[in-house]
Amino acid sequence: MSAPVIAIDGPSASGKGTVAQRVAERLGFHYLESGALYRLVALASLREGIAAEDETHLAALAAGLDATFVDGRKLISGQDVTDALTDEACANRASVVAQRPAVRAALLARQRGFRKAPGLVADGRDMGTIVFPDAALKVFLTARVAVRAQRRYNQLKQKGIDANIATLSRDLDERDRRDAARAVAPLAPAPDALQLDSSDLSIGEVVALILAWYRDRTQRGSV
Ligand code: C5P
Repeated sequence: MSAPVIAIDGPSASGKGTVAQRVAERLGFHYLESGALYRLVALASLREGIAAEDETHLAALAAGLDATFVDGRKLISGQDVTDALTDEACANRASVVAQRPAVRAALLARQRGFRKAPGLVADGRDMGTIVFPDAALKVFLTARVAVRAQRRYNQLKQKGIDANIATLSRDLDERDRRDAARAVAPLAPAPDALQLDSSDLSIGEVVALILAWYRDRTQRGSV
C-alpha cells in the first residue's frame, strides 16, 4: 500500500507552507513544498535567459533541473538559492511558467517521488486534484486577500526585505487569478476537499484542526 498523503492546497500566502510543515513535523511525515519546484524552474529560467513563452526549453529545464532540498534550504546544482526564491519577481515568474502543460508534466513524477513511508504532507495548488488524487485527506486553505498580503508583508519584513502592502496585495491577486484561470491544473478545491478559511485563526488552531481531521480519518479506517 502507498504511504498516506495529506494534500494542502490554496492560494498564495494562505499559510499552507507553515501549516503543512508543522502538520508533517507532528506526524513525523515527509514534506513537499511543490511551489518551490515551480519557483526553482522560474529562477533557473531567469538566470539562463529562457523566455516565459518558450515551453520546450522550460520543460527541458524542469525535467533536468538538479534541485535538492536540504534542511529547509533549496539548492540548484549544489548552490543555495533559498533567499532568491522568496523574491516576488520569482513568484510572479513561477505562476507564469506554471501555466505551461509541458512544465507541469515534467514536474509530476518528481513530486510523486516525495511520497514515502510513513507519509507525506504536500502543499501547492493541485496536490489534491492532480498529483495525489488518492490523498487520505485534502484541505483547501484560504484566507482573505488583505490578511494574506499582511502575512506575506510580515514574512518579508522579518527577512529584512523591503515590501509594500498595496503592491503585495495586487501581485497576490494577479497570481491567484492566473492560477485559477489556467487551462491545466487550475487552482481549485478537489470535490472531496475540506475547505478551511484561516483568516481569523492562528497557525496553531489551523494545525490542530487538520490533525483532528486526519485522526478522524485514521480512526474510521479510511487511511
Ligand atoms: O506556493 P508558491 O507561492 O511558492 O507557488 C508559486 C507559484 O507556483 C504559484 O503561483 C503557482 O502558479 C505555481 N504552483 C502551481 N502548482 C503547485 C504549486 C505552485 O502551479 N502545485
